[in-house]
Amino acid sequence: MPLTSRHLLGLQGVPKEDILLILDTATTFKEVLDRPIKKVPTLQGKTVVNLFYENSTRTRISFELAEKRLSADALNFSVSTSSVKKGETFKDTIRNIEAMKVDMIVVRHSAAGVPYFLTQISNCNVINAGDGTHEHPTQALLDFYSIREKLGRLQGVRVCIVGDIAHSRVALSNIFGLKAVGAEVSVCGPATMIPGFIEDLGVKVYHRIDDAIMENDVLNVLRIQLERKAREYFPSIREYHNYFGITRERLDRLGKDILILHPGPINRGVELSSEIADGMNQIILQQVTNGVAVRMAVLYLLGTQN
Ligand code: CP
Repeated sequence: MPLTSRHLLGLQGVPKEDILLILDTATTFKEVLDRPIKKVPTLQGKTVVNLFYENSTRTRISFELAEKRLSADALNFSVSTSSVKKGETFKDTIRNIEAMKVDMIVVRHSAAGVPYFLTQISNCNVINAGDGTHEHPTQALLDFYSIREKLGRLQGVRVCIVGDIAHSRVALSNIFGLKAVGAEVSVCGPATMIPGFIEDLGVKVYHRIDDAIMENDVLNVLRIQLERKAREYFPSIREYHNYFGITRERLDRLGKDILILHPGPINRGVELSSEIADGMNQIILQQVTNGVAVRMAVLYLLGTQN
């Protein structure tokens, strides 16, 4: 069965069947990544542009790797060396790129809604690689893949997303997707970082991290986005770490074994202690590995349906 859309703009409204199809397809591609020759001809002849208007390490590199593993022609658009710096508009930039016969666009932008806008001005398949504080669907999909790989299921798994929920595209995509596949979703963080509408999404809210740890199977710990002025939402980094930081001492005191995810990049000593970031409970680098397989699955399913 093909996906129900020719774009991946977010996980809001995406049916469970589409999410599970992407995860199952990623399992096939993960096996390719373990071969001595990590390449298949699946997207030979397709051209994909990675249009990153915002900084990225994991998402940009893993999309580029996924495209190369599928034998697509992968191009990277760098804003700092482009004619955007001469004042060219976003729309003109896209029209010129598409005129060169591009098939798919992967886009990251600081403005929410840019991936949708792209679908209105181009005929390419569009994949959202993170738009402002809106959605980051492939990050959430690789989170789901990693949870399922570790725990064997998603249905009924209790996942708490910890940190700056109000400014997190990872949180929103996780909430929409986890609810669709039947997981129990909650959030935990300072009241200033939890938007009022969150309970309307059927999500439980914790303000004490110890309660969240005791009542969940998985913590998906978000980065405190210091570059987006997150510091204004709590008195100090030290206080945030004391109240919401995940530390060995806290887990030992609670005597609770819990799986810890983090989308990266990590602020060591803020949301996670270094001991936890490198310790036995976390699967942070497995998430990164799985990200390549999941992005291969998304590119393959979108790139071969038309
Ligand atoms: N998780 C994530 O989106 O990381 P990057 O910003 O490095 O892509």
